[in-house]
Amino acid sequence: MADTLPPLSLYIHTPWCVRKCPYCDFNSHEPGTHGFTPRDLPEAAYLAALLQDLDSDLGLAAGREIQTIFIGGGTPSLLSPMFYERLLKEIASRLPFAQGIEITMEANPGTTEQARFTGYRQAGINRLSLGIQSFQPDQLQALGRIHSGDEAVTALAQARQAGFSNINIDLMHGLPGQTPQLALDDIDQALALAPEHLSWYQLTLEPNTAFHSHPPSLPEEEALWDIQDSGHQLLEQAGFKRYEISAYATQGQQSRHNLNYWQFGDYLGIGAGAHGKLSHIDQAGVWRIERRWKTRQPEAYLKRMDDLRGFIAGKQPIQADELPLEFAMNALRLTEGVALSTWRDNTGQPVDRLLARLQSADKKGLLMQMPEKLRASPQGLLFLNELLALINED
Ligand SMILES: C[S@@+](CC[C@H](N)C(=O)[O-])C[C@H]1O[C@@H](n2cnc3c(N)ncnc32)[C@H](O)[C@@H]1O
Ligand code: SF4
Repeated sequence: MADTLPPLSLYIHTPWCVRKCPYCDFNSHEPGTHGFTPRDLPEAAYLAALLQDLDSDLGLAAGREIQTIFIGGGTPSLLSPMFYERLLKEIASRLPFAQGIEITMEANPGTTEQARFTGYRQAGINRLSLGIQSFQPDQLQALGRIHSGDEAVTALAQARQAGFSNINIDLMHGLPGQTPQLALDDIDQALALAPEHLSWYQLTLEPNTAFHSHPPSLPEEEALWDIQDSGHQLLEQAGFKRYEISAYATQGQQSRHNLNYWQFGDYLGIGAGAHGKLSHIDQAGVWRIERRWKTRQPEAYLKRMDDLRGFIAGKQPIQADELPLEFAMNALRLTEGVALSTWRDNTGQPVDRLLARLQSADKKGLLMQMPEKLRASPQGLLFLNELLALINED
């Protein structure tokens, strides 16, 4: 195993949205059903809970710098700039921020205005991720979005005006009734806004969503391949390099926070339902990795403030024999893959054993033939589960 701890990030979850989108299985809730309105969320209570939650994790992070922070949701842009100003100040008083720290916030274009963006920027947030999904009215309606394409364009202009120079756009494809041409139009409109980063997700029908129980009519397999291929080409021609299955960035603008996940870094997770992964070396000098997750329902999470059980809903060590799969599930998402030495450092497993297992993957064309590197081929990125199954074979 490596002899130094991996980089440390912090994930902060905000669990509320104006309206639940029918495709979404994230831990996001309409506040109206719980007695709050979207513009009247329990900010003070949530702030106090987040800090108490962080305090209970500090033992595992003591003395370590935070490299990146990601405020995700839900819809973080439902909470005020003042909330984030206080939150970030309090966090900085507990854990040192690395020089040049990346602090990202997700924003929904249906919840923003100029003054909010200016306030978020002043609070120290320096990267914005705008959930646009599509620019076409029919698609936005089918996806249950609360904003129009024009509002998304305005939101991005306002964010620039507020001083954000690092912006991601979330787009989805393979949408109900979408033709390859419509998918390319969406990419064209996103490119016209000149974001630094673009996340391009294929719509999946997740269990426990409205789309799962009432599936919309999605494009046929052939159209989906066509969308994938032509969309990928369009993005690469425009200078967006794909560095992960769904992530494209201009030169040097990869999401450092997400890269830390994919490179198997450590992260604290605070907020309703947040997950964390933390490595430490125990008193006997043995390397340990623990996953922990927090109470999921926002109201139950808030109540945990006065509860001796605290915010943790569960924790589990990652066992040595689980490490290869855990590591590969993340690292193989990266188009560049990882060095074999990184594999050895993170899993504690000899490289020879891995190479023997991977011979059959090579035959199926799921891996790139590269000495010293573990890297999925374009085919392997498409069929990642098949590749992971080979790595995990006894
Ligand atoms: C947690 S959401 C955050 C963004 C923000 N809440 C919003 O929607 O505006 C992160 C992104 O995941 C993507 N996403 C969510 N559910 C998805 C699904 N079922 N299939 C594909 N992408 C999905 C969307 O692009 C979404 O913007
Ligand atoms: S706004 Fe974002 S987090 Fe909220 S339900 Fe929609 S996709 Fe999910």
